[in-house]
Amino acid sequence: MNVIVVVGNPKPASRTRAAAELVAERLTGSAPQAVIDVVDLGAGLLGWGDAAVAQAKKAVLAADVLIVASPTFKGTYSGLLKLFLDQFGQGELGQITTFALMLGAAPQHALAPELTLRPVLVEIGASCPAPSLYLLDSSYAESRELDAWLAVAAKHLERIGDDRD
Ligand SMILES: Cc1cc2nc3c(=O)[nH]c(=O)nc-3n(C[C@H](O)[C@H](O)[C@H](O)COP(=O)(O)O)c2cc1C
Repeated sequence: MNVIVVVGNPKPASRTRAAAELVAERLTGSAPQAVIDVVDLGAGLLGWGDAAVAQAKKAVLAADVLIVASPTFKGTYSGLLKLFLDQFGQGELGQITTFALMLGAAPQHALAPELTLRPVLVEIGASCPAPSLYLLDSSYAESRELDAWLAVAAKHLERIGDDRD
């Protein structure tokens, strides 16, 4: 299974990235094939047709499973992630199974991934079978929310695998 992680944090090698990699590993049993740390794409994101952005898009479009992760900034996902998602046309992901993840400092924005990130992912063609996941940056690795979410998401992934066989 080709699992690709996309991380939209202006800070490279962030907790958001670590959490997304952890989710990928615990969900699928192995490390993701690739992590696209969107900040590495730099100014190429500000226009259209940049070669590195095109390469990153190619990796995303080849995925069987995507995990798209962002820190919570002012109650929503990051502007950096939006720059990358805007590079995709409507429906372009072609129903790739996608899980949305956001990290935040406080619990009051727990619905932000479901209410802000998921609609954009669906607009560009993601199929999001599970509820979006919100984790606190201080405790993401040992959270009960993560354990509970994994149980649900794993069932969705299993069903998708069965349908493919
Ligand atoms: C500009 C900015 C805005 C933020 N806004 C929020 C917010 O609205 N809600 C929240 O829970 N955390 C907020 N935070 C905290 C970040 O979401 C949190 O630090 C981040 O998820 C930690 O992940 P990182 O270590 O990967 O950057 C904000 C942080 C910054 C820098």
